[in-house]
Amino acid sequence: MHYRLLGHSGLEVSEIGLGSWLTYSGGVEAQVARDCVFRALDCGINFIDTANVYGQGAAESLLGEVLAEVPRDSYVLATKLYFPMSDTDRGLSRQQVLKQIDASLARLKTDYVDLYQCHRYDEDTPLEETMQALGEVVASGKARAIGFSEWSPAQISAALALDDAPRFTSSQPQYSMLWRAPEREVMPLCQANGIGQVVWSPLAQGVLTGKYRPGQAPPDDSRAANPAMNQFMGRLRQETLLEAVQALRGIADAAGLSMAQLALAWVLRQENVSSAIIGASRPDQVSDNARAAGVTLGADLLDAVDQCLAEVAHQEP
Ligand SMILES: NC(=O)c1ccc[n+]([C@@H]2O[C@H](COP(=O)([O-])OP(=O)(O)OC[C@H]3O[C@@H](n4cnc5c(N)ncnc54)[C@H](OP(=O)(O)O)[C@@H]3O)[C@@H](O)[C@H]2O)c1
Repeated sequence: MHYRLLGHSGLEVSEIGLGSWLTYSGGVEAQVARDCVFRALDCGINFIDTANVYGQGAAESLLGEVLAEVPRDSYVLATKLYFPMSDTDRGLSRQQVLKQIDASLARLKTDYVDLYQCHRYDEDTPLEETMQALGEVVASGKARAIGFSEWSPAQISAALALDDAPRFTSSQPQYSMLWRAPEREVMPLCQANGIGQVVWSPLAQGVLTGKYRPGQAPPDDSRAANPAMNQFMGRLRQETLLEAVQALRGIADAAGLSMAQLALAWVLRQENVSSAIIGASRPDQVSDNARAAGVTLGADLLDAVDQCLAEVAHQEP
């Protein structure tokens, strides 16, 4: 495994991280989830991402059980808040920040998270209030660093401009060969301000592994075939997109990489990307993906990827 610094946080995270969104919130059996987490740790993956809302606490609870078996300083744990946890619990008010961190820590069976992230921007709470509350969480030792997910450049800049506010050190955007929007503004802004990217769905929910063949039903054991996990795949199932992705197979073969490794090495070519957060529904996927760490891709290969995906890659913020 290879490791990178997460912005100016001082945290060292594995280039491949393990997420727990649809998978370990209930989509995958608990024993398999557990096996995936241990496989990840065996592969040197130390960065583990979750959120309070994944399965309404279920993913945090599963990780809490599993990670209790290994030393706390052997992994870097990230969670998030913002999305509704009940009819009245949502958002980034001071009251919610202080309440949700304690609930997350209880489920995760730990005294602190390494990274506490705002899952989205809260239009209903003054930014100053959120930042002050995050500062309290850090000062109390309940989080070592703070981050945001899917904030706009204007929202990021507003947080950076506040006096006496704690500094964000991570950003969690969607980023993949098929979703390039963060390249334009978010990455340069973050790079200039000591904020690293921990990117989500780097495999486009599995589509970039090439297992979805145009004109064919999705494999029975895939996310697309699973009603509990396929509801966010939308445009990723379009035939033209699946055809374009198949053209990447020759590029991966020629480079001696699996298609998953090619997709992960592609996001890691950006120095501002600290970790690519994968999902995994089986331990062998973790091993396959972990081998993308340390792979460098040449300029000709990158050009060939761009040509294959020119019509289907989303570029706009
Ligand atoms: N901040 C946010 O708003 C946000 C949003 C979404 C996700 N996230 C984070 O990002 C993490 C990753 O998201 P994701 O699960 O969509 O990531 P992904 O890595 O793009 O997709 C993961 C899925 O692809 C398939 N897969 C993975 N490796 C494979 C391989 N080597 N060969 C074949 N299939 C493979 C598996 O699905 P099947 O085997 O079931 O097909 C797996 O569950 C989440 O767990 C979460 O922590 C954050």
